[in-house]
Parts: sequence; C-alpha cells; structure tokens
Amino acid sequence: MPHTRRTFEIEQQLLVEAIYRRYHYDFRGYAQASLRRRLQTALARFNCETLSQLQHLVLHDAAVFPALLQYLTVQVSDMFRDPEYFLALREKVVPILRTYPSLKIWIAGCSGGEEVWSMAILLREEGLLERSLIYATDINASALQKAEAGVYDIERVPGFTDNYTRAGGAGSLSEHYSAAYGRVVFDKSLRRHVVFSDHSLATDSVFAEMQLISCRNVLIYFERPLQDRAVGLFQESLCRRGFLGLGSKESLRFSAHAAQFDEFLPGERIYQKKAQA
Ligand SMILES: C[S@@+](CC[C@H](N)C(=O)[O-])C[C@H]1O[C@@H](n2cnc3c(N)ncnc32)[C@H](O)[C@@H]1O
Repeated sequence: MPHTRRTFEIEQQLLVEAIYRRYHYDFRGYAQASLRRRLQTALARFNCETLSQLQHLVLHDAAVFPALLQYLTVQVSDMFRDPEYFLALREKVVPILRTYPSLKIWIAGCSGGEEVWSMAILLREEGLLERSLIYATDINASALQKAEAGVYDIERVPGFTDNYTRAGGAGSLSEHYSAAYGRVVFDKSLRRHVVFSDHSLATDSVFAEMQLISCRNVLIYFERPLQDRAVGLFQESLCRRGFLGLGSKESLRFSAHAAQFDEFLPGERIYQKKAQA
C-alpha cells in the first residue's frame, strides 16, 4: 500500500473520531472506501491539502461541519425509485396494511423527501393515508428541510411520472402537486400525515411501534456491525408481522437479525418480522 494511502487512512480515522467527539455524528462504522472517495472530493471544496488540515477546520470553525456533512452523506434519491418495489408494496403489502385500524410508517434515511412523498401518494391512492402517520428521518438537517418543503425542479417531473406509472400509479402524478416558477410542490394534504425528524441509525434508539419501515439505500454505506445495529432498531420498532423494505442492493442475508424475519418478497427486498421475534 503506498505511503500516502496509508497516511490518508490514518487521517480519515482521526477526522471521523474528531467529528464524533465534537459533534456526536458517528461515521466510525461507515464503509471506509466510500467515505474515502467522498472525503477526497471534499478536500478541494475546503481548500485543504490533507485531511489533517480539514480536521483542524472542523474542530475550530463550527460553520465547516454542516458543509462537510453534505459530502459525508450521499443525497441521491428519486420518486418511486425502483418502481417495482412500490408496485410490490401496493399489490402485496397494502392488502395486509389495510387490516390495521391505524398505521405508523417509518422512512429511515429519507434524504430530500422523494421516498416520503412517493409513500404518501401510494397510501392516499389506496385509501390508507387518513389513518397513517409517516415518520421521515435523516441525519442531514438540510436534506430534512428540503424533504419537508416538498419542492422539486420541474425538470425532474418526467422521470418522477415515469416511475409513478411503472409503480402502478392509480391516476396522474400531477393530481398530487402544483407547479409554478419552474418547480413543483407536493400537496399540503399529504404533509399533514408526515412528521420529519432528526434521527441517526448509528446513535439513536427506537421511537414508536411501526407496521412498515422503509430504509432504502442507507445500509449500503454502513459496515456490517452498523448495519446490524440499524436492523436491530428496525426489528425492535416493528410490530409483529410488520414489514421492512430495503434497497435493491441491500439484504438481510448476512444480518445478525436475519432469523427474526421472513423473506416476504425476496426479489423486492421486502421482509416481514416473524410473529414470535
Ligand atoms: C442515498 S440516500 C437514500 C434516500 C432514499 N431512502 C432513497 O432510497 O432514495 C441515503 C440517506 O441516508 C442518510 N443517512 C446516512 N447516515 C444515516 C444515519 N446514520 N441515520 C439516518 N440516516 C442516515 C443520508 O443523509 C441520506 O439522506
């Protein structure tokens, strides 16, 4: 391993430790190679030659950390991302959710809100939104603000609409937003059913009993012990026979908690907590 690479690794560990001690954001269990790539990009943005210089800024200038957080967390998202996942929720999970008098749904790692509005629209079209409360959580405060605003560039709408249709959309996506000044804003009637809050899968605990948890494209950034921590939280948060949906590249196969779940729809990464778990 080249000397510089090893030095980068040492500095990366020290920076992550400094962030944890100073700001209580815990990136120690994140996949190191992917963090390294993102930190390499961040160096240029902060005019730093080394991560030690960046660490100095992070420790001594409180304005730097929120900006660095944008590099440490990946913010890519889409509405009805992987439409077949949402189609499976609609066709196979909703009929079971319908049997509950009220529903709590947790979108963990909600980024800019695309997944939240997709879920709210699906529930509305299935007649379940009125009895639902969606908890949308993330560690990135500016992503949460964006999610709550529910405002997106109009250029993204054709992609959203295509996914919505492929996900079994029952009407027209345009029934759920209004457009103005090159942007669309999702309906306030959807928002009444969503609570946004700061929650970290790395450091926080369980907060309610859920019928469905959707945590997509978050665990891929974690190493195995942190994945296990997060899945442990999900397992504790779910009611018996509650559902857990993961991203298309994620699975419970190697999880310490795999035995507590049945593979409800393995192709769509939808699991169901066992009755006795
Ligand atoms: C790639 S986005 C996924 C967005 C959405 N779930 C989707 O699949 O389109 C990953 C999100 O996980 C969030 N995240 C990263 N670490 C987290 C943690 N420890 N707890 C909660 N969310 C976290 C990031 O801030 C980011 O918004």
